[in-house]
Amino acid sequence: MSAPLAWVVVADPRRPLRPSPAHRIEGLGETIFAEMSALAVATGSLNLGQGFPDSDGPPALLDAARQAIASGHNQYPPGLGVPELRAAVAEHQRRHYGLTWDSDHEVLVTTGATEALAAAILAFVEPGDEVLALEPFFDSYPAAVQLAGGRLRGVLLEPPHFALSRHALEAAVTPRTRVLLVNTPHNPTGAVLDADAMRAVAEVAADHDLLVISDEVYEHLTFDGRGHIPIATLPGIADRTLTAGSAGKTFSVTGWKIGWLTGPAPLVAAARAVKQYLTYVSGAPLQPAVARVLGTHDDWVAGLRDSLQVRRDLLVGGLRDLGMETYTPAGTYFAVSDVRSWGYEDGAQFARDLPSRAGIVTIPCSAFYDRHREPDDETGRSLLRWTFSKAEGTLIQALERLQAARPTMAGGASR
Ligand SMILES: Cc1ncc(COP(=O)(O)O)c(C=O)c1O
Repeated sequence: MSAPLAWVVVADPRRPLRPSPAHRIEGLGETIFAEMSALAVATGSLNLGQGFPDSDGPPALLDAARQAIASGHNQYPPGLGVPELRAAVAEHQRRHYGLTWDSDHEVLVTTGATEALAAAILAFVEPGDEVLALEPFFDSYPAAVQLAGGRLRGVLLEPPHFALSRHALEAAVTPRTRVLLVNTPHNPTGAVLDADAMRAVAEVAADHDLLVISDEVYEHLTFDGRGHIPIATLPGIADRTLTAGSAGKTFSVTGWKIGWLTGPAPLVAAARAVKQYLTYVSGAPLQPAVARVLGTHDDWVAGLRDSLQVRRDLLVGGLRDLGMETYTPAGTYFAVSDVRSWGYEDGAQFARDLPSRAGIVTIPCSAFYDRHREPDDETGRSLLRWTFSKAEGTLIQALERLQAARPTMAGGASR
């Protein structure tokens, strides 16, 4: 690829855009995921970049959606979401975590977790407010905070364990901090926050009177017997927490964009006030289909989790065998490597070289770090994210391609 990794809109002084866009979108361009997926198609590369599976969800889910279309679920659903999905989400939170939410007031169906998070952020962040998030962070967070006029500040999770330090969290709070945005299991590092980390989040939020927005889209994709701890289950914290979930990852239907928010009625109502003017509603036939499986397909989800663990081991073990330093993720679809082990300094350069050298597309982790850092700040620069949500055969093929490319790449050939 000869073009730069243009994941931000770069103003071209020779051709000013007329009419000029609002300042609030400055730096927001095509996402790195869209760009790298397009590159994968253009170069015929294996796409280990964007996190989506290459197999579909459970047949009962797909059949239910077809039936819903055939039986006329094709007009606007209710603004909060169809009652059967809201009831299924409330029941899911009760059954798995003992959280009791009233499905008429404390559950909101959204257009994926992305909209749930954006609505929550737009509803609560005032211009000038600071939002703390675990850095590296999912790319929709800084965008949504920027659109709200706020400032995202990262609390660094560092390799090899990407653990949350209570001290770092405390130190990041300022008088302007209003929201703590937590993501566990964590994209891109695959870290799963343990009980101590969750206690630290809860205590810091309570001590500083912060709203907690919790992104739990990978809640069921944890490995090696580790469990997911929703922040809302910690004593005294549910009243100040909005939790986002999604059917996309749990049921391998990332393109459906059926997500939800749960939390106390006044918080959900504020997010709904925003959501209704973003999309109003979406996914009329998909909502009842998700409702159909949310309470009945735990075995299918466990099978997905186990198979992801096998694929994680395949990819991480294979990368390590090739001399690529790779950290073992405790959950999610993703593993992170440090390309310095192959002689590169820059993960973005490695990601640029990979399609032509090896026919593989990945995501440089620089896309997940604060782009307002000083230009010479090296944080995360050498890290690269791979997804193991693809078929075993695809991962094996990718490892074979990497092995073949290694002699021309190891040593950082194109630095
Ligand atoms: C951490 C995280 N949050 C939210 C999302 C978006 O979820 P959805 O596709 O349901 O909008 C993703 C998708 O990759 C993610 O990784």
